[in-house]
Amino acid sequence: MSQLPDPLQYRTADYPIQEIFLRRWSPRAMSGDSIPEEELFTLFEAARWAPSTFNEQEWRFLYAMRDSPHWATHFGLLAEANQSWCKNAAVLVVLVSHKVFERNGKPNPVHTFDCGAAFENLALQGGMMNLVIHGMAGFNNSKARTELSIPDDYDVEAMIAIGRPGDPGQLPDELREREVPSGRKPIREIICEGPFAF
Ligand SMILES: Cc1cc2nc3c(=O)[nH]c(=O)nc-3n(C[C@H](O)[C@H](O)[C@H](O)COP(=O)(O)O)c2cc1C
Repeated sequence: MSQLPDPLQYRTADYPIQEIFLRRWSPRAMSGDSIPEEELFTLFEAARWAPSTFNEQEWRFLYAMRDSPHWATHFGLLAEANQSWCKNAAVLVVLVSHKVFERNGKPNPVHTFDCGAAFENLALQGGMMNLVIHGMAGFNNSKARTELSIPDDYDVEAMIAIGRPGDPGQLPDELREREVPSGRKPIREIICEGPFAF
């Protein structure tokens, strides 16, 4: 049974925005249940519609369902701190991006930027489906490359945990205390009109 907090109880926007943005957050408490492939593919479908330079669609999602033979490999890439809560995920994803343009093999300076857009689409969709979607940098990047046979013209960007919400009471103490939707910097700290003025 999920007892995750409702983000709308913790978050208020200073300017009017759609609820979808406040609803997305990164919980760690997951139930340990699997999710059906159709639900997972709905998340990838959302990611698929992200914008990208020249419509390159550089993103590639290497996934492992918890009941599959691939799970142990993906799980083994994670830092210990992330393993402590990802053991209850339904799916683990390694997000990789094509570093060069398909049409001429030249470096694509925004492949990481585009992958971030795809991740955000996936996360927003997941938030609306009441799924936990949690991006992670805490994993062994070079091990991912070797163990998942990722070619040199792809960068390993991030991992993503996906699962059904669970009971925060089962998290390690320090993570349970942090299982609360976070706030944001005031808008004036992140924007300026004209040249850089921070
Ligand atoms: C690329 C990326 C890497 C992250 N790495 C980790 C991680 O390794 N472990 C973790 O617990 N959270 C990780 N996070 C979650 C962030 O801490 C979280 O998104 C941030 O605190 C903002 O909170 P919110 O997503 O709930 O709004 C990561 C998030 C992103 C986008």
